[in-house]
Amino acid sequence: MKTNKETGQVTAGSHISYWTETSRQNKYSTLTMDTETDILIVGGGIAGLSIAYQLVKEGRKVIVVEDGIIGSGETGRTSAHLSAVLDTRYFELQTIYGKEQTKLIAASHMKAIDTIEEIIRAELIECDFKRLSGQLSLHETDKPESIAKEYHAAMEAGLDVTFQEFVCHFKNITGPCLEFKNQASFHPLKYINGLADAIVKRGGTIYTSTHAKSIDSTGAITSEGHRITAKHIVVATNSPVNNKYMMHLHQFPYRTYVIGALIKKDSVCDALFWDTGVQKKDASFQPYHYVRLSDYNNVFDLLICGGEDHPTGLIEATDNPDEKQKYKKLINWASERFPIESIAYEWSGQVLYSYDSLAFIGKNPFDHGNIYIVTGDCGNGLTYGVMAGSIIPDLINEKPNLFADLYKPSRCKLLKAGKVFLDEFIKGLTDYYKNKDSQIVESIDSIAPGDGKIIEIDGSKYAVSRNNYEWLDVVSAECTHLGCVVKWNKDENSWDCPCHGSRFTQTGIVINGPANSNLNHYKIKSTEFDKYKTQIKETL
Ligand SMILES: Cc1cc2nc3c(=O)[nH]c(=O)nc-3n(C[C@H](O)[C@H](O)[C@H](O)COP(=O)(O)OP(=O)(O)OC[C@H]3O[C@@H](n4cnc5c(N)ncnc54)[C@H](O)[C@@H]3O)c2cc1C
Ligand code: FES
Repeated sequence: MKTNKETGQVTAGSHISYWTETSRQNKYSTLTMDTETDILIVGGGIAGLSIAYQLVKEGRKVIVVEDGIIGSGETGRTSAHLSAVLDTRYFELQTIYGKEQTKLIAASHMKAIDTIEEIIRAELIECDFKRLSGQLSLHETDKPESIAKEYHAAMEAGLDVTFQEFVCHFKNITGPCLEFKNQASFHPLKYINGLADAIVKRGGTIYTSTHAKSIDSTGAITSEGHRITAKHIVVATNSPVNNKYMMHLHQFPYRTYVIGALIKKDSVCDALFWDTGVQKKDASFQPYHYVRLSDYNNVFDLLICGGEDHPTGLIEATDNPDEKQKYKKLINWASERFPIESIAYEWSGQVLYSYDSLAFIGKNPFDHGNIYIVTGDCGNGLTYGVMAGSIIPDLINEKPNLFADLYKPSRCKLLKAGKVFLDEFIKGLTDYYKNKDSQIVESIDSIAPGDGKIIEIDGSKYAVSRNNYEWLDVVSAECTHLGCVVKWNKDENSWDCPCHGSRFTQTGIVINGPANSNLNHYKIKSTEFDKYKTQIKETL
């Protein structure tokens, strides 16, 4: 399996996804001077590009800045189900939003899938888009009544859903299940590369390897010090890097894992598949499995299977504690159900679960009225990204939008979803303090190659990882968002922050917000670490 270290490409993780390996790496020039625009969009994932596409179509002057390449964030690490079957069940959404608004929620996702299909046709984008059914089956820990309840709620929400006795063609997954018609799948990077081409063709400008270091109501300043002056600023960085506190109390970061397995062509029916998830009493989010197929070659299909989610930077002690165990669990789960021949891909990504189960799309709360955000994807961020492509342009143009109120970031659902908020908040805080000191070691001798630990020098904490026996990478252990102590992720070779999901490479480069600046870095031979401790402390 290839990792990004082999290609030298910085993305939101060191594993390369199937999507990244099978699409062109889409780079544009880097911004090298001050500039001006009507609308500045920060982030070249599905959200940023969907918004840019709509605005350039309306004739607006748009600049997109992306600090990696197109799709180097979560859009390149997704599983790409396009669906109105959300991570929260419709019967639960009805209790938070009521029946009328729940209909709107379902309609907004179905409309997003239609929008993708329309854009693909209009721009002739080849991205393996396919309409197919989605099947939701019962997890073994769940009760059959929940499928029945979901059937009624999904029907009331206006979805084309039928109750089936058995899940199509899968071993060891028994019925009943719900079949949702008219869902879809696609290749996410081929799609957004096509969007990027269409944006540029219509006069938009995209800069890659261009990091927006500071963002305010007048525009942004890049790491190289170039100012982009803009009338409207859209922060589509997945986790909003301009919002220090409020949105990060409203959403909770989870790591999620994916395997790409080869199966004989046409041995499994082509559908999207989910189970209803582990019904843990003490968890507000139920980790579930998600499965789909992709064409691979003449002999094999690729079965893309995901799940095993856990809060970022906090992994269960039963996993020893090593993120790599998650792939083993996924492989075991998938092998019991599908005719797997071999594993071709493993990758992981990050999802932001909002406390009230919907994304946040619109004006950044308590900020100037010309700054917009898209976040809280809840595992459905592809359709939310596409929705942002109509909601945010309408807000900029001061036009009414049917879905704008539903998704506005300043909404308050604490009365209906306050328990989730409190559970996640208290559990996150308790787990953070419980685990905080568990990775501190006395000496670098306890750090094996491929591992990372925290070392204290005169009361200050440093995050030290070892590439091989000779060299150590030392970074400051305090996250540049709000100072929590980072935790080594053995699987993606990153330092992950358990508080709000910021992530940094081994050498301290920020790869997931809300942090927006790097950790200071010091490279040193392991034989010289003890001798240069004071210098390390002074430098970092
Ligand atoms: C494993 C996995 C499976 C998933 N499955 C599904 C699914 O089946 N269906 C679904 O709908 N959703 C799914 N999701 C969620 C979905 O993929 C994401 O929510 C969505 O891709 C996010 O898009 P985005 O544009 O908001 O963010 P991103 O794609 O992360 O784009 C944000 C971009 O901003 C850039 N950036 C960040 N900071 C700066 C800065 N300061 N300056 C310049 N650029 C910056 C980043 O490099 C990044 O490219 C899944 C996610 C994962 C991880
Ligand atoms: S992400 Fe907020 S402190 Fe690290």
